[in-house]
Amino acid sequence: MSTEDIFDARILESIEGLLDDLLSPENPISASGLVRIYDAMRYSALAGGKRLRPYLTVASADLFGVSRTYSVRAGCAIELVHCYSLIHDDLPAMDNSDLRRGHPTSHIAYDDATAILAGDGLLTEAFAVLASAETHPDAGVRTTLVSQLAAAAGASGMVGGQMMDILAETGVAEAEDVELLQSLKTGALIRVSCRFGGYLAEANEDHIMAVDTFAARLGLAFQITDDLLDVSGSEASTGKPVGRDAANQKPTFVDLLGEAGAHKKAAQLICEAKDQLACFSTDIQPLTRIAEFILRRQA
Ligand code: IPE
Ligand code: IPE
Ligand code: MG
Ligand code: MG
Ligand code: MG
Repeated sequence: MSTEDIFDARILESIEGLLDDLLSPENPISASGLVRIYDAMRYSALAGGKRLRPYLTVASADLFGVSRTYSVRAGCAIELVHCYSLIHDDLPAMDNSDLRRGHPTSHIAYDDATAILAGDGLLTEAFAVLASAETHPDAGVRTTLVSQLAAAAGASGMVGGQMMDILAETGVAEAEDVELLQSLKTGALIRVSCRFGGYLAEANEDHIMAVDTFAARLGLAFQITDDLLDVSGSEASTGKPVGRDAANQKPTFVDLLGEAGAHKKAAQLICEAKDQLACFSTDIQPLTRIAEFILRRQA
């Protein structure tokens, strides 16, 4: 099963189209350094990927009837941060991976310095997108988006989780540490993707909490299935090398619980995620379908 079977093609098209626009320089450029940095940013950000995070923003914003013009832009900002995190995650100093989304990783296609800068460029662009009035007419809402993405992406969110992941390569990890590490490195961006839907709608706290808890369970299940695919998936379907976690001595739930145990934990988390949606009277099907897809995904 692939995202094409469950994601609405029109939403995916708007996400792809907007990412392309956002990464096109406003004025023609000729300096070779600028040509190279835009080229490298586009190479990684426009080369496939499931677009799960922007899709989650759109699907959760749809619960509240938010205009797709706003939700697609807000979701794309998160996708830019995600793409940066992947470029840096693959660097030799981190996971040292040479394939991403079916293509050579940025540091292989370019070089380490260009890959670092391409990541920096994508991260910075994300905040420019959120600060723009095109993302939401209300400056207070835009400020919330900026500060919430900063918190989710930074040292107490994704970056902190990545640091824990690197340190854990040389130590023995307990289940609680693995859960915290995974909920930060992967869960933080997935949670903020769903909360963005609520912020754009200026929804009430209970509804924001419900999408946040939904996403927290989903995010953990998503990283467990990522770890399972690293053990039993294929390079052809994931577009990235398999067996890297064992080679890098990464602590995962597959280590702690075995493959069957990890799958069972992911299934339980997906049930808990879906339970969170009971408080909505609007169409929860798109989010339910994403949750079910996470368990069966091959990429
Ligand atoms: C990969 O994320 C990194 C993790 C957080 C597990 P995705 O599996 O969403 O990667 P793309 O965006 O589809 O390439
Ligand atoms: C990476 O987790 C999470 C990020 C913040 C990028 P992984 O290292 O497991 O992701 P993959 O397997 O390389 O996509
Ligand atoms: Mg990693
Ligand atoms: Mg990795
Ligand atoms: Mg992985």
